[in-house]
Amino acid sequence: MLSVSLSRLQNRVLALARFGALPGGGVTRMCWSPPYEEARTWLLSELKTAGLATWVDPAGNVFGALGAEDLRPGTPVVLTGSHIDTVPEGGILDGALGVLAGLECLHVIRESGTRTARPLAVAAWSDEEGRYGSLFGSRAFCGRLDAAALPTMAAVDGEPLATAMARAGFDAARAPQARAPEGAVHAYVELHIEQGPRLDEAGVPIAVVDSIVGVRRTRLVFTGQADHAGTTPMERRRDAFLAAAEYSLGARELVVERGGGRSVTNIGVVYVHPGVSNIVPGRAELVHEMRSPDPDVLERLAQACEALAREVGARRGIGVEARRMSATIPVACSAKVQAAVEGACKQLGLGWKTLYSAAGHDAQNLALITDSGMLFIPSQGGKSHRVDETSDAAAIERGANVLLHTLLTLAR
Ligand code: GLV
Ligand code: MN
Ligand code: MN
Repeated sequence: MLSVSLSRLQNRVLALARFGALPGGGVTRMCWSPPYEEARTWLLSELKTAGLATWVDPAGNVFGALGAEDLRPGTPVVLTGSHIDTVPEGGILDGALGVLAGLECLHVIRESGTRTARPLAVAAWSDEEGRYGSLFGSRAFCGRLDAAALPTMAAVDGEPLATAMARAGFDAARAPQARAPEGAVHAYVELHIEQGPRLDEAGVPIAVVDSIVGVRRTRLVFTGQADHAGTTPMERRRDAFLAAAEYSLGARELVVERGGGRSVTNIGVVYVHPGVSNIVPGRAELVHEMRSPDPDVLERLAQACEALAREVGARRGIGVEARRMSATIPVACSAKVQAAVEGACKQLGLGWKTLYSAAGHDAQNLALITDSGMLFIPSQGGKSHRVDETSDAAAIERGANVLLHTLLTLAR
C-alpha cells in the first residue's frame, strides 16, 4: 500500500520551523512578516522540488498542484492544505503539519506514478490565525471577503492589512480576485493537530471532524475619567479598567452557565490608557472572543454579553462601546469527506473517533463552496498555541497516511 515518507515530512517540518524560530523553542511567524515571506519562498521551492506546478494568488495563498497548472471548473481539483502562519510564540505544527503532509502526499503520489482521475492540489492559506482578519486567505478564495472593509482591516496593535501586504509585495485591494472559479474544487480535506486533549486522553489515533466552531471577536471600549491616582477620593473615581475587569469575570460566568457545555470565551487583548500607575485608567479596551459549535447559542451569548457590558458601564458611570470585529460561522463537515477519512482509517487498520473542532480552520470557509472536512491527530497533553506544542512521530505518520488515502479516494 502506498505510504508517505515520514523522514522527508519530518525534515520539512524542522526546516520550516527555522523561519521565525524562537531561542527557547517554538516560533513567531505572523502572516506577511519577513520570516513568513522567507517561509513562503522556501515552501514554493519545496513544492517545485516535489515536481508540482506552483502559483500564488492575489490574497497570498500558495498552491502546488499535480495534474493541473491552475484552477478551472472543467477539471475540479481535490484540494488539501492548511497554513504556515503562526500565533506569536506558537508551536511548529499548528498549520505547518497540514501543508507539509499535503505536500508529502502529492510528492509520493507523483514519485510512485500513481494515477488519479482528478488533479490534486495543496494550499497554504494566508493569515489563518487572523492577525489582520480571521481565516483571510481562504475567505478570499471562497468569495467571502468584503472588499469595502479591506481599507480598514487592521491588527489589534493598529497595523493596517494594506501596509502589511504591501511590505510583502501584495496589493490588498486585489485580494478579492483570489476567488476560485465556481466548480473548480471537487473536495477539500485538511489534516491538523487536534490542539486539545480529547484524542490524547482517549488514546485514539485519529479524529474524523464532523463540525467546526464559529468564532466571534468583539472590541469593547470602556471610557471613564483619567484622574490623579493619589488625590482622587475612591468613591469619586470612574475607573475604566475596573469596569473592564468586572465585565471580563461576568462574561466568563455567563458563557460557562449558558453556553450549553460546548461554548468557550477568552479575553486575550487588554489595553489600559494612559497606562501609568499614578493615573486612574480613563479608558480600557478589550478584545473578547467567544466560540461555539452552535450558531444560535453563539448569537444568544453575544447578545447577553453586550447587555452585560452596558449594565456594568451604567452602574459604574462608564461609557461602553462594543464593535464586532469578526464572526465566522460554525459549519458541518461534508458526509462524503467524513466517509472518505473513515474509509482510509479502515484501510490502514486505525481506530477513530468523531469530534467537533473547538478551533477555527480554513476548512470552514471551504465548506461554503465544496465538500469539506478535516481529520485530527492527537496533540500531546492537548497543548497548542504555545511553544511546547507537539505530537509524536508515529501519530504524524498515521495522520499523513490517512490523509494520503483520503485524497486518493476523493480523487478516484
Ligand atoms: C486557530 O488557531 C484558532 O484560533 O482557532
Ligand atoms: Mn492556530
Ligand atoms: Mn491551525
